[in-house]
Amino acid sequence: MEALPEAAVFQGLGSTVVAVNQRFVDIFGLAGIDTAPGAPLAPIVESVLAQYADPPHWTVGAAVASGATGTFRVHRSAEIPLADGRTILSLIMCIRDSLGSLWTARDITEHKRAERDLERDNRALTELARRRNQFMASASHELRTPLSSIISFCELLTDPSAGNLGADQRMFLDAIHRNAERIRGVISDLLAATTTRSAQLELEYGEVRVGRMLEHAVRDHMPAAAEAGVFLTLDCAPGPPLRGDEHRLQQVVGNLLENAVKFTPRGGDVAVSAAPREEHWEIEVADTGIGVPEGFEEEIFQGFVRAPNALDDRYPGTGLGLAVSRDTVQLHGGTIGVASAAAGEGGCV
Ligand SMILES: Nc1ncnc2c1ncn2[C@@H]1O[C@H](COP(=O)(O)OP(=O)(O)O)[C@@H](O)[C@H]1O
Ligand SMILES: [Mg+2]
Repeated sequence: MEALPEAAVFQGLGSTVVAVNQRFVDIFGLAGIDTAPGAPLAPIVESVLAQYADPPHWTVGAAVASGATGTFRVHRSAEIPLADGRTILSLIMCIRDSLGSLWTARDITEHKRAERDLERDNRALTELARRRNQFMASASHELRTPLSSIISFCELLTDPSAGNLGADQRMFLDAIHRNAERIRGVISDLLAATTTRSAQLELEYGEVRVGRMLEHAVRDHMPAAAEAGVFLTLDCAPGPPLRGDEHRLQQVVGNLLENAVKFTPRGGDVAVSAAPREEHWEIEVADTGIGVPEGFEEEIFQGFVRAPNALDDRYPGTGLGLAVSRDTVQLHGGTIGVASAAAGEGGCV
C-alpha cells in the first residue's frame, strides 16, 4: 500500500479496513482516527465525506460505508471539491466481488488551477483577437469611406465635362488616383488578413464548378493584364465539382493572378491550368515573370514577407496576399506552394 503513488484505502468484507496508506491519512488529516487493519471503515468515510465542499448524497461513499462492496463492478471516478478549496480525484474500484474494494484519492488542486488559468488565458486571448478584429474592421471602414470619395473626385476631374486639364495637372491627378487606389488595395489586404487569419473565417461550402470559377477569376484580371501587356490563358480539364467556398477560392486564384500579372514584364505570359487529380483538383497559375528566388519559396507565404526581387517600386503590395491564400486553401484541406522557382518562371500551385 505504501508503494502506491496515490492515497489509498483497501476495504475488506464487512466494512472493515484491510489497509490504509500514509498518504490517505495525510491527504484527509485522519491522524486521530483508527486506521489499523480490522478497524471499522465508517469513521474514516464519515471524516472524509465531512470535508467535501458539497456534502455528499454521493452513493459510492455511502455504499463503502455500508459495506456493500460486492455491488461495485465498475470503476467510478469523480473530481470532488473539498471545503478547504482543494480538489480531489477519487476513484473506487472493486477488487473482484468477494475480496473488497480499493478507494484511492489524489490531490489535483494544482492541476485544476492550471486548467482554470489556461481557460482564463484562452478566453482573454480570444477576446483580444475579437477586439483587434473589430478595431481593424472599423479602422478600415473609416479609411475606406474618405478614400472612395477621393477616388470618385479624381475620376470626376479627369472627365472632360469637368473642364480641361493641363498636361501637368492631368499627371498630378493620375498620381493622386494611382496612390489612392494603392491605399485601397492595402486596406483590403489588411482586412482580408485579419478576417482570414483570425480563424473566424467561416467557409460557405457549396459545389464549385472549377472551370466557371477560374473563368470568372481570369475575366476579372483581363483588363489589368491587357494594360500590363501580359497574355492570359486558361486551360481547365473537365472534372467533378469541388466542395468549397466559391467566393474565397476565386479570391485565391485572383491573388495568384494579380501577382503573376504584376511580376511579369510586358510581352510575357500567364497561364492558368487546372485538372482533377484523384480526390482533389490541381490548379496552377504559371507566369514567365521574375520568379521567386531560391530560399523564399516558403517565406513568401508567411505574411508581410516579400522576396528581395519584389521590393522594387514597380511592384506595389503588402506581402499579405499569399498568406491569406494559404489560410484559405488550408481551410479547404488543400496545399499551396511554389512549383518552380527557376529564374524567369514563377509558378504557384
Ligand atoms: N508570380 C510571382 N512571381 C514572382 N514572385 C512572386 C509571385 N507571386 C508572389 N511572389 C513573391 O511573393 C511575395 C508575396 O506575395 P503576396 O503575398 O501576394 O504579396 P504582394 O503581392 O503584396 O507582394 C511577393 O512580394 C513576391 O516576392
Ligand atoms: Mg499579391
